[in-house]
Amino acid sequence: MAEFIRELKRTNSCGELTSRDVGREVVLFGWVHHRRDHGGAVFIDLRDRAGITQVVFEEDVGKELSDLAHELRLEYCLGVRGKVVSRGANANPKLVTGEIEVHAIQAQIFNRSETPPFLVEDRTDTAEEKRLAYRYLDLRRPAAQRPLLIRSRMNAATRRVLHERGFLELETPFLVRYTPGGARNFLVPSRLSPGKFYALAESPQLFKQLFMVSGFDRYFQIVKCFRDEDMRLDRQPEFTQIDLEMSFVTQDDVFAVVEELVATLWKENHGIEIPRPFARMTYEHSMREYGNDKPDLRFDMKHVDLTDIVAGHRGAGIPMWSSFAERRPGQIVKAMLVPASAGLSRTETDKLEEIAKGMGAKGLARAKVDDQGNWTQSPLAKSIAPEARAAINAAVSAKPGDLILFQFGKESAVHTVLANLRLHLGKRLELIPEYGTGDPKAPASWRFLWVVDPPLFEYDEESKKFVAAHHAFTRPHDDHVQYLETDPGRVLCYRYDLVLNGFEIGGGSIRLHDPLVQQRVFAAMGIGPEEAEKKFGFLLQALRFGAPPHGGIALGMDRLAMLLSGAESLRDVIPFPKTQKGTDLMTDAPNEVEPHQLRELHVATTVRKPE
Ligand code: AMO
Repeated sequence: MAEFIRELKRTNSCGELTSRDVGREVVLFGWVHHRRDHGGAVFIDLRDRAGITQVVFEEDVGKELSDLAHELRLEYCLGVRGKVVSRGANANPKLVTGEIEVHAIQAQIFNRSETPPFLVEDRTDTAEEKRLAYRYLDLRRPAAQRPLLIRSRMNAATRRVLHERGFLELETPFLVRYTPGGARNFLVPSRLSPGKFYALAESPQLFKQLFMVSGFDRYFQIVKCFRDEDMRLDRQPEFTQIDLEMSFVTQDDVFAVVEELVATLWKENHGIEIPRPFARMTYEHSMREYGNDKPDLRFDMKHVDLTDIVAGHRGAGIPMWSSFAERRPGQIVKAMLVPASAGLSRTETDKLEEIAKGMGAKGLARAKVDDQGNWTQSPLAKSIAPEARAAINAAVSAKPGDLILFQFGKESAVHTVLANLRLHLGKRLELIPEYGTGDPKAPASWRFLWVVDPPLFEYDEESKKFVAAHHAFTRPHDDHVQYLETDPGRVLCYRYDLVLNGFEIGGGSIRLHDPLVQQRVFAAMGIGPEEAEKKFGFLLQALRFGAPPHGGIALGMDRLAMLLSGAESLRDVIPFPKTQKGTDLMTDAPNEVEPHQLRELHVATTVRKPE
């Protein structure tokens, strides 16, 4: 008899045979997904990554094949040669292959399986820890495979679109020199240079700029980046960027390429046209109305700044607001309106305060608006000056029955609390789904947004200095260069973030290629030429050799894949992800190494092993 694999090649996947194939002899390879042993005939659902096909070992197949069939158990790996037969009235309309079954003529068990620790099923209530420990089995589940198939398609489309636009796919090193600023780096000890360390590249940023200096003009790479950050649902310590850089471009040129790329990804995966150009919003606008720089535009509930009104009314009669009678830098009062239609009960409203406190708020002042515009259910109700109340009601467009939520104090804290509260309410009031998108085929489910023109510097309270808000090589707006010395906080720059449904899916900038302006930017941060040279020497030097004007962006591939596939976390779209603690439960990384390995690396650990 012909031998499987060597002679009997696979003719079809397990996901494609239909009534058109009836009568054909086929060879299928796969895993036992289900088995039903009726004493006589044995029914097997054979599964591969394309789908499931029912295979029948009939009663009269002969002893050898029959014995084999009775031996089969879940997850055995199997080859089957058989005939495609119609299932007639027993067809299963839920399966692509439901019209047929394959009657086995010959079969071979390639490998038996231990009893799997959980069933390889789409719906699973197995804890994530267990699934990650057996990730190779977890990845047999079609639901776990789907995001990875989407990723593979995304990679192919990215390469196609960018190659067509004249981009070169070039590689950059992972083992790089440590440069300060940005994310925390992983360090790798050098065996050959005792006491010295490489950093694992947090992004190809400096190298892609050097490609521009070398004249490559348009670069891209689908590249792993490494950051030793605290993990969140949308963060992994190693993640993938679609990284690109272009010479002789403005911000609009970069946007056009990215919009085409992103629209292609959505078209290929959901068959929809995402309207272009994408919306744009200034950073200032985003902070003012949404409290952060990645607003989810699928619902309204904007924040309203009341600082001027409260100052205008000398604290509005409310003792807690008396310090706002004068405008003080960095101190604000803001509100957010929850419409009466939300139907929040008093208990639910009280719960909001707990949630706000969980986010670091001292409390959550609130007031319900009655038919006359008076405030009720609120300690503010007694003391608020009537004119201030009217002005606030008008500013937030309050109608009878609406609830006004207030936060006041330090700007950054007010923003964080209200931004998180807005998202919480968006989900609680079902204005947005808890995870993923509503209908992935509806263009309105996808709210792309460019957030543009942020400040170049951030004031660091600790060091009492201006520091680069993004990185030191971002180009300031030409008409703001004049403020570099006199009013650095006012300087806006060509930095941009691409936001989708409240997630930052990309960020980049037009770079500062002019060494003279560069020096002034460093000076504004209190960095002298010597220190600049020490920190960024090779890039500064390269920029002095006729660097072209250039700019670029990096898109977070994992975040794109997560949103595109409706996954709940980055872990679902990364084949072998790390846990919240940065560990790999399957391989048990990171792990301890032998003392002689550390000696070889000239490294000593301060951690004592428990006796
Ligand atoms: P940035 O640091 O904004 O820019 O990163 C670009 C995009 O990468 C994604 N991202 C992450 N995804 C998963 N896990 C992480 N830990 C993580 N960190 C970032 C985000 C983010 O928008 N060199 C610049 C780009 C440039 O200026 O061209 C850079 O790396 O989606």
